[in-house]
Amino acid sequence: MKNSHFVSETDLSRQRDIALTLAKEIIPRKLTFFVETFGCQMNVRDSETIKGWLSMIGYTEAKNKESADFVLYNTCCVRDHAEKRLMGNIGALKERKDENPGMIIAICGCMMQQEGMAKKLLKRFPHVNLIFGTNALHRFPEMLREVLNGDRVALTDRDNDAIAEGLPKLRDNQRNAFVNIMYGCDNYCSYCIVPYVRGHERSRRPEDIRNEIVSLVENGITEITLLGQNVNSYGNDGSTGIKFAELLRYVSDAPGLKRIRFMSSHPKDLNDDVMQAIASLPNVCHHVHLPVQSGNNEVLRRMNRKYTREHYLSIITRLREMVPDIEFTTDIIVGFPGETEEAFQDTLSLVEEVGFAAAFTFAYSPRQGTVAARMEDQIPETVKKKRLQALNALQARKTVENNEKYIGHIGEVLVEGYDERGEETLLYGKYQNFKMVYFPGCKALLNRYVTVKVTQSNKNSLLGEMIDA
Ligand code: SAH
Ligand code: SF4
Ligand code: F3S
Repeated sequence: MKNSHFVSETDLSRQRDIALTLAKEIIPRKLTFFVETFGCQMNVRDSETIKGWLSMIGYTEAKNKESADFVLYNTCCVRDHAEKRLMGNIGALKERKDENPGMIIAICGCMMQQEGMAKKLLKRFPHVNLIFGTNALHRFPEMLREVLNGDRVALTDRDNDAIAEGLPKLRDNQRNAFVNIMYGCDNYCSYCIVPYVRGHERSRRPEDIRNEIVSLVENGITEITLLGQNVNSYGNDGSTGIKFAELLRYVSDAPGLKRIRFMSSHPKDLNDDVMQAIASLPNVCHHVHLPVQSGNNEVLRRMNRKYTREHYLSIITRLREMVPDIEFTTDIIVGFPGETEEAFQDTLSLVEEVGFAAAFTFAYSPRQGTVAARMEDQIPETVKKKRLQALNALQARKTVENNEKYIGHIGEVLVEGYDERGEETLLYGKYQNFKMVYFPGCKALLNRYVTVKVTQSNKNSLLGEMIDA
């Protein structure tokens, strides 16, 4: 990990000036934007910044992409298929653009940081106006100005990875918010493309993180999720003066902050100090998303995960002793090169043993440039598919088991949304340990905390009733 460096205030204020100048021209034209986000929370968070800039520049959000004057795809490349899908989407916009020649089509995100990708797309799709990578978000006004002047712009500089503080953002709700604590990743798991596209690990300054959280809470947000590819390695380079557990302590007393979540955690860095912080800080939620990837030590070694099955299980046991109502979710890859049937059985037995509340399961997808893509013994797609089905069937059974534990459970739920079913309105929200529950109630309770008792457990969900609003 290298020390973080920051975009200067002079540069940022230059961008803001450009945005405000553009606004004078854009507002009277009543232009609209549509942003479609693929990928993980990191990309969702980046899209909030781009929407923030667009709003500052005077665009308003369109109802659909067909009617929008500015369309942006924020892309992911962690698995394949994404590229084909993107090409299809971009191709389909050609007709729209013929009808509305002023329409701007932009693509950004991780996929744009892949070697040669920007060039390829510009050549193949002459109707694309703007391409930029994850490091260029703070230069959005400048890029857009050039596009509005008729240029095609591509900015995908992978080396220029300074942290930009204080960028605008447009959030879609008033209850929970993502807060980046770090960018990039230095772990180089052998299957993963993220370090190549998002670059080195860089940690934000603790005071910038805390200030952002305090201001969010002042604006009504009560739940925050600290984001990073591996949040537990926060500050491991010494650049921030504190590590992740200390960061949790430092932000947790922000007045009015009810819930702190964080993701993702890497098992190799989930140390005692972090466990203590989870156990002792009242607003740190009792949920850890702890990707295991495989239950077999040889596969874990070749994945470069730097922990063993035994170590992983010991974290689970420890945390359950310290925090009895804790829930775990995970990510699992099946069909990693060289994964034998026996090795796969180890993954199944681990899933059986742990009892995850939920698991995100993936068939291994070779990513160009990564170590695993060059390994021999690539597993046939048919085998991967079969293993994925077996794993999903097991997890489905474990989810039911996990749900059944909750019958009679009483706790506070943050209302996140509602489904209207005929006469009845079903609200839904999460307990602090991430379990979701549905219950009848009134829409006015959206974003509020209510106490809910679980009355029934279905295959995929819990049903309950409010006992206090
Ligand atoms: N930094 C996070 C996750 C990033 S990607 C972490 O380490 O926890 C999210 C998940 O996608 C990974 O946990 C992994 O399970 C999956 N994934 C990443 N690369 C993959 C690949 N090449 N094929 C299949 N799944 C992959
Ligand atoms: Fe990818 Fe591993 Fe980094 Fe996660 S920790 S982003 S899986 S390299
Ligand atoms: Fe995808 Fe980039 Fe996230 S590759 S998983 S959007 S870091």
